[in-house]
Amino acid sequence: MAQQPPAPQQIGVGMLGLGTVGTEVARRLISEWHLLTARAGGTTPVLRAVAVRDTSKQRDLDLKNVRVSDNAASVVDDPDIAIVVEVMGGTEPATGLIDRALAAGKTVVTANKAVIAAEGPRLWEAAAAHHAGLWFEAAVGGGLPVVSLLRDSLRGDRISSIDAIINGTTNVILTRMREEGVTLAAALADAQARGFAEADAGADVDGWDAAQKLVIMSRLAFNLALTVDDADVVGIGGLDRIDLGYTGQLGYAVKLVAHAERRGRDAVQLRVRPTAVPASHPLFGVNGANNAVLLASDLAQTVSLGGVGAGGESTASAVVSDIVNAVVRRGSQPEPTAARTALILDTEEYDVAGYVRLRITDTEEARELVLQALADRGVPVDDAVDKPPVDGPAPQLLVLTGIAPRAVHDRALETLDSLAVVREVACALDRISP
Ligand SMILES: NC(=O)c1ccc[n+]([C@@H]2O[C@H](COP(=O)([O-])OP(=O)(O)OC[C@H]3O[C@@H](n4cnc5c(N)ncnc54)[C@H](OP(=O)(O)O)[C@@H]3O)[C@@H](O)[C@H]2O)c1
Repeated sequence: MAQQPPAPQQIGVGMLGLGTVGTEVARRLISEWHLLTARAGGTTPVLRAVAVRDTSKQRDLDLKNVRVSDNAASVVDDPDIAIVVEVMGGTEPATGLIDRALAAGKTVVTANKAVIAAEGPRLWEAAAAHHAGLWFEAAVGGGLPVVSLLRDSLRGDRISSIDAIINGTTNVILTRMREEGVTLAAALADAQARGFAEADAGADVDGWDAAQKLVIMSRLAFNLALTVDDADVVGIGGLDRIDLGYTGQLGYAVKLVAHAERRGRDAVQLRVRPTAVPASHPLFGVNGANNAVLLASDLAQTVSLGGVGAGGESTASAVVSDIVNAVVRRGSQPEPTAARTALILDTEEYDVAGYVRLRITDTEEARELVLQALADRGVPVDDAVDKPPVDGPAPQLLVLTGIAPRAVHDRALETLDSLAVVREVACALDRISP
């Protein structure tokens, strides 16, 4: 019988990018090689080369045995490198370099949610076709092992829904607005100054970063072909601190909640929206830079993960874990193949509850007419609270609307907007009913 070749004692790793994440990955590979060798069954993942934009930049690392290049393709093509770690970010040249590595049969480990959300299924088919590997634990939730949970731990389950706070930047901003009453602009500037938000935080604030992560999770959870265009996405840019204060007084915290839900086999709804979360809900206490993911499934029922969802060290945890797994499971492509076509459910058909803030006329009948109009339009009212005027003479009315289809809610809001006693529908948010 032919003998198995002995496992190689070293495996060459090349890294594309040495920034916030890459630096911590390199530090771990270099300083903890002993631990990683033991975890990888006796084979050492050795960092052989890194690609950066600026080779003259001082790096806070001892890179004496590592080739540093500004030519990323040369790192990918290096025959001594079997594992390519893409931590440069952006879509190009990152996507092209990942393609190049996979076509050469190499294993790719990436933290790049933009690339995986846009191109994941195509890339994992390429990986399978070339007996390569594609690992992306770090693309969702930093060090939270969300991808392994979905891909490995719950293999025997049918997952029915995902609820997540998956964007640390917006969570830092919303926590600050609620706890300290600052404006969104001030909270964003502070988050940027303290390194919790990038200079260009558009994708975070507008909800697209959360949507990319929701799509990646949902593909794995439901085995459906999904893109960010399938998600109903509303960011936090329109939020006023006054509503964070009022919802707080009513026992809620506004969070950017990413929600995916499957109905039947192939019908799914994906949404990312600022949502008033009640104190009784597990996402209520997830504050600051923390992330949390709640999964509902038929066997395990409710599974939750929580912790630091971004930052160099937390994200490096996921990247290094993928590197070790890739060494141990060399040549095996971890992804499921052939996802089914999804039926995207119409957002308007979904049941929601709401929080609505109105500026109304200072008349006796205004409150009654508003509540009557909601009842006439089929929207239940769980509570209505009067508030004094701010920024002008109009008194305010907060309404907690009960569960009804979104289309019914939207039509009722249009009706309210047209009432003579309503000066303005100042805010309308989704709300999770306690
Ligand atoms: N930071 C986080 O908390 C976090 C969390 C989860 C996932 N991620 C993902 O991880 C990835 C990396 O994020 P990061 O925060 O570490 O980024 P970063 O700090 O901006 O670092 C990017 C690195 O890539 C290098 N680079 C950029 N373009 C290059 C090119 N064309 N050729 C060669 N090198 C190039 C840069 O070189 P220079 O050093 O010379 O500029 C830098 O070292 C992104 O996909 C991000 O979405 C980040």
